[in-house]
Amino acid sequence: MRKIYLDNNATTPVHAEVLDAMLPFFREDFGNPSSTHWAGSKVRKAVNIAREQVASLVNCSPSEVVFTSGGSESVNTAIKGIAAARRKEGNHIVSTMVEHPAAFNSARHLEKEGFRTTFLGVDGDGMLHAGEVESSVRDTTILISAMYANNETGVIFPIREIGGIAAAKGISFVCDTVQAVGKVPINFRDLQVDAMTVSGHKLHAPKGIGALIIRSGTRIPPLIHGGPQEKNRRAGTENVPGIVGLGKACELAQNDLDKEVARIRSLRDSLENGIREAIPDVKVNGHSEKRLPNTLNISFKGVYVEPLLAELDRNGIAVSAGSACSAESREVSRVLTAMGLDSATARSTIRFSLGRENTQEDIGCVLALLPPLIERLRNERSARTA
Ligand SMILES: Cc1ncc(COP(=O)(O)O)c(C=O)c1O
Repeated sequence: MRKIYLDNNATTPVHAEVLDAMLPFFREDFGNPSSTHWAGSKVRKAVNIAREQVASLVNCSPSEVVFTSGGSESVNTAIKGIAAARRKEGNHIVSTMVEHPAAFNSARHLEKEGFRTTFLGVDGDGMLHAGEVESSVRDTTILISAMYANNETGVIFPIREIGGIAAAKGISFVCDTVQAVGKVPINFRDLQVDAMTVSGHKLHAPKGIGALIIRSGTRIPPLIHGGPQEKNRRAGTENVPGIVGLGKACELAQNDLDKEVARIRSLRDSLENGIREAIPDVKVNGHSEKRLPNTLNISFKGVYVEPLLAELDRNGIAVSAGSACSAESREVSRVLTAMGLDSATARSTIRFSLGRENTQEDIGCVLALLPPLIERLRNERSARTA
């Protein structure tokens, strides 16, 4: 059976060139980058090259790149670190109802430490309005946390505008860019953010590696204490193979970003249009233009998501219900609820997220399978409730 992977917002396969770049660092180049002898100096150089590759993709200085274990650690470090560093100046944090749990629960955690939070809603298109961010700011606001692109819907927030508001008011701004880096052009300098995040496994590097980009001069105390690695910003012997892999993945993404964005957008659009043409009563969730080019979040009226996912899986098609993180919990998506979807609609929603490996043939297979499948599931359900 042909296997079709359409869950690239959950994770991506490691690119062959990324794996090739990493392999020597499991074998002959095993040194500790902190060692001063030959074994250390070779891997130290490799770590620095990777730092330049990451910096080049997101337009920051290599000295602003801190390697971490992934997106969750980067988000936690930035939010909790800035909150701790600015505690004396104020205790109010502005965030959104649709952040990934890494950011959402970091802010919730800070409530237990005496911080006040405002979680802003989004409109029916899943969009956050910069004006609402501005009007939620108080004299005590020290931090704004807002994601660049939503993991469930792909909706892209007006981060540059929010960055301008934060900068004008002297408020720190953390942007979770995990779903955007490698999928669309991201320019750290231009966004006016103080910190932003990278996760290796979302852009064809392995799991367990990521980066936090910290604007030079921003005070973010480490989350993990220990040795002086990463200029005292993140302790622990570096994950050298992972770092090398992340660097290579960033280089590959940068080499053909424009071409891949256009190709993947056209595949996604043909999937979306094909579904709309062949299946009645569908609802695409998320802004039609300000959306990641690879993401399609769509509700099928009168269909339960569990049997739909199971049938797709049985036919070799991997997609997810909302976000992978909430797939086990069976809770209604916080993101879709914030957009005003009722729980029945939210529970009939799946997310397609395309990637580098997808082809028009993949889309053709999905479009051949889905219309009769939806019709059957709808008929079975109405037969049961009749
Ligand atoms: C928007 C967003 N932020 C953070 C994360 C967490 O990244 P990681 O899996 O590398 O911890 C994810 C992962 O799904 C994400 O989608």
